[in-house]
Amino acid sequence: MPTTNRQWKLANRPTGLITPDVLQLSETPIPAISDGQALARVKYLSIDPTMRIWMADVPQYMPPVQIGEVMRAFGLAEIVESRHPDYKKNDKVSGLTGLQEYVVISGDEKRAFQKVPSIPFLSDVNFLNLLGINGLTAYFGLLEVGKPQAGETLVVSAAAGATGSIVGQLGKIHGCRVVGIAGSDEKCRWIKDDLGFDAAVNYKSSDWKEQLAAATPKGVDLNFENVGGPVMQAVLDRMNLHGRVVVCGLISGYTKQDPGMASFAQVIIKRLRVEGFLILDYASRFLDAGQKLGMWKMTGKLKTRETVVKGIEKAPDAINMLFQGDNIGKLVVEL
Ligand SMILES: NC(=O)c1ccc[n+]([C@@H]2O[C@H](COP(=O)([O-])OP(=O)(O)OC[C@H]3O[C@@H](n4cnc5c(N)ncnc54)[C@H](OP(=O)(O)O)[C@@H]3O)[C@@H](O)[C@H]2O)c1
Repeated sequence: MPTTNRQWKLANRPTGLITPDVLQLSETPIPAISDGQALARVKYLSIDPTMRIWMADVPQYMPPVQIGEVMRAFGLAEIVESRHPDYKKNDKVSGLTGLQEYVVISGDEKRAFQKVPSIPFLSDVNFLNLLGINGLTAYFGLLEVGKPQAGETLVVSAAAGATGSIVGQLGKIHGCRVVGIAGSDEKCRWIKDDLGFDAAVNYKSSDWKEQLAAATPKGVDLNFENVGGPVMQAVLDRMNLHGRVVVCGLISGYTKQDPGMASFAQVIIKRLRVEGFLILDYASRFLDAGQKLGMWKMTGKLKTRETVVKGIEKAPDAINMLFQGDNIGKLVVEL
């Protein structure tokens, strides 16, 4: 068994994308575990836009990662040694593993790690996307906050991403006309042809605003916003009276000093109900949501896709991929 644990530590706070000075790869001995602890080897690291927020010293929903700390990250890990009554060798767990190869799980952190059951139609990565943060965010954000009604027009941005791709499919399950906005023709083809979205708009094409207008002939009743910036502005301009905007994320601003949101005034003009939410608030209902999401996956109503980057050394580049649109579906690093 290897004796060293490679870890990415936060060395400097980023100002834009992740530059080579931001994260530092260090090696440390794999710690010996004591009674009540288990050692797990990380198999997959979940690469999430919020990691860029965690790196910044700005007000946020969790404490920022401190300089010198192992970078915070969700992951899926396999127990390799256990002196904890609840875990045995080869058990799989998901939770905040950190951007590293090995993690020690202590009894007092039990709630932070979920045991991953073996279910034939679910892959390991499905516990990071469909049954992890993305599926749960899509489920509660769309169904609880957005409350989609059959026949409504739903527009979702970052529609070929981990969260947006599930939001759109949930919108179809609930009878909406679903329009996705994504950054390439390949992504647009995937969400339309494979996932069943009614229309897809590539916001990088020159006539995308005309395409958006054509795809939303009755305006937009519900916007599930993942992006902000010019994409959100164009959707806000298409909102119907008393429409709803679920502000899930504003990724276009995460690497910028001044994200700029001029059309936010439409919220007042059109009397929109704009509601932010955080997935953490729904923790007590994750199990119920997971069962429903799993059922839709099993019956073929929900599809998932992954972009897999191999090797922990590629983790910083992988984080940047999110901001450059280089992922389709869930982005993970395989160790
Ligand atoms: N509120 C919550 O509790 C919660 C929980 C999880 C995630 N989120 C938010 O949900 C959003 C999606 O997260 P995810 O994990 O599912 O990531 P993702 O959608 O899989 O990946 C991010 C995608 O955003 C798009 N993007 C990046 N920069 C953009 C820009 N400037 N303009 C337009 N599109 C851009 C890219 O696709 P294109 O090729 O289409 O540009 C990229 O693939 C993020 O804003 C995230 O912060 C919120």
